[in-house]
Amino acid sequence: MFSNEDFIRQSLDLHLFFLRIMKEHSFFLEGGFTPVCSNLASQADAFKKQFEDLLKEAVSLADGFISPDVASSGEIVTEFTLNAEKASEFFTGITIDTSLTTAELALTKGMQQLNTQMLTQRVVDLNQRAITITQDLINFKTIVLNGVLACRLFTFNYPLLIDHIRREAILFVTLLTRLQQRVMVDIAGFAVEQESFWNRIMAEHAKFIRGLLDPTEEALFEIANNFGKEFDVLTARAIPRRLYLK
Ligand SMILES: [Fe+2]
Repeated sequence: MFSNEDFIRQSLDLHLFFLRIMKEHSFFLEGGFTPVCSNLASQADAFKKQFEDLLKEAVSLADGFISPDVASSGEIVTEFTLNAEKASEFFTGITIDTSLTTAELALTKGMQQLNTQMLTQRVVDLNQRAITITQDLINFKTIVLNGVLACRLFTFNYPLLIDHIRREAILFVTLLTRLQQRVMVDIAGFAVEQESFWNRIMAEHAKFIRGLLDPTEEALFEIANNFGKEFDVLTARAIPRRLYLK
């Protein structure tokens, strides 16, 4: 039985995990454009702001309602997040709402006594808006990726990175849609269930790092390269129990 409390908790856990990713991906997109693509950079900035607003709402709804295992997992924010945001803001001039990170660090776990009926409706509404905005972001990423592949536009982001962040957005929409239909999403078994998806993602992270290092940083190049290869092996070994994506 999928109760309203399960629905609320799983939706908010999912938002805390993915909305930050969506806003950071919007930031990556914005920072990767050159002045000739200032219109695309503005669109990416607008996405970043929309995801900040959604995350702010999710954090406020989740306070006192967050799953203990999610609270202790380090998947929402880490001790490095705030400083990384300040450095990213300093070097790019792109604003990042760090108050959100502070609020996330202060999130309290446990079961607050709330009006479940009212909260359910607010979460249904939040999920729906997140689906719409994330679908718009997926479409935006597709436009950028197709433009790059057709040599119509340039960005400092790799085509694979754009494809990669689009896959993550598609997964978010897929999981949110299931929740809206009250299909149980086992957040605890999330990583295990989707081993091949996330192993591939991790391999690509390592390869992005490899590609962004200076050619003189040979030791780091090797480390990143080896991580990439290790995750490639794990990806090949993993049996995809559920195929959300190709
Ligand atoms: Fe990623």
